[in-house]
Amino acid sequence: MISLDNVSYLYRSPAGTTAAIKGITAEIGHGITAIIGPTGSGKSTLSELICGLIAPDTGKITIDGRPLRELTGKTGMVFQYPEYQLFAETVYDDIAYGPKNLGIFGAELAERVRGAAEAVGLRDDLLDTDPFRLSGGEKRLAAIAGVLAMQPRVLVLDEPAAGLDPRGRQKIFRIVHSLADNDRDMTIVFVTHSMDDAAEHADDIIALMGGRLAAHGSPREVFYSSANENPPEIAALAQLLGKRGINICKPVKRSEAFDAVMRLMRGGDSDA
Ligand SMILES: Nc1ncnc2c1ncn2[C@@H]1O[C@H](COP(=O)(O)OP(=O)(O)OP(=O)(O)O)[C@@H](O)[C@H]1O
Ligand SMILES: [Mg+2]
Repeated sequence: MISLDNVSYLYRSPAGTTAAIKGITAEIGHGITAIIGPTGSGKSTLSELICGLIAPDTGKITIDGRPLRELTGKTGMVFQYPEYQLFAETVYDDIAYGPKNLGIFGAELAERVRGAAEAVGLRDDLLDTDPFRLSGGEKRLAAIAGVLAMQPRVLVLDEPAAGLDPRGRQKIFRIVHSLADNDRDMTIVFVTHSMDDAAEHADDIIALMGGRLAAHGSPREVFYSSANENPPEIAALAQLLGKRGINICKPVKRSEAFDAVMRLMRGGDSDA
């Protein structure tokens, strides 16, 4: 469990200060959490705070009661467009960089690199190639593998699906789900601009607005609240149907909407 207690963060520059995060108190449990919010609302800043890459100006962040600074290597961050950060001569060396920094060598290192490559579905023969020869999507997978090889307990991904085609997006979220399913103690946080991705893939949603916590709860709670002006497609459709007297209750995932519609067509009441 990650606990944020009245966390604020200021960017300071000669031009002045920007309050990017303002007094956020929240708890993030195991499983998958999405951070949503408009451009400039503080999503990337909050991600870096959760990973301990920057320290709050006020308030504190703890993981299972322990301060972040005691947890080196337990949090892993996949930056937006991480493929631009590959630098080693081979994909293998790139993935190995993080665990090596944690003091892992020899057989365990090799095992971790191969395990991480397998977890993201990178073919074995690609490990010996120059990372710059990979496709854009493969580079992103290699970058994610590099973070997974550190075996973090908390994994934060900033816009992991940005700029990928539908298949690439699907692949990324399949990885996210399989990590969460295989290890129930893992905490995965992803940032997204897509309400649909947040609705489809997250157990919990944190919505930011101007650096403040605008909403926090299950996708159903967040996307069906009256304050939400920008619901995902499935919720928007359910609301339109509701206005015509067709009640399919409150689906947020495609599968939930499908089940509700099927029940209606069979003549039963929908209570999805
Ligand atoms: N290095 C920086 N120096 C000064 N101000 C910054 C810096 N990085 C971000 N900010 C400001 O902090 C606020 C939050 O930025 P942040 O990058 O966290 O937003 P975001 O929600 O991730 O936006 P986006 O969706 O565009 O990625 C913005 O007002 C931004 O201008
Ligand atoms: Mg950002």
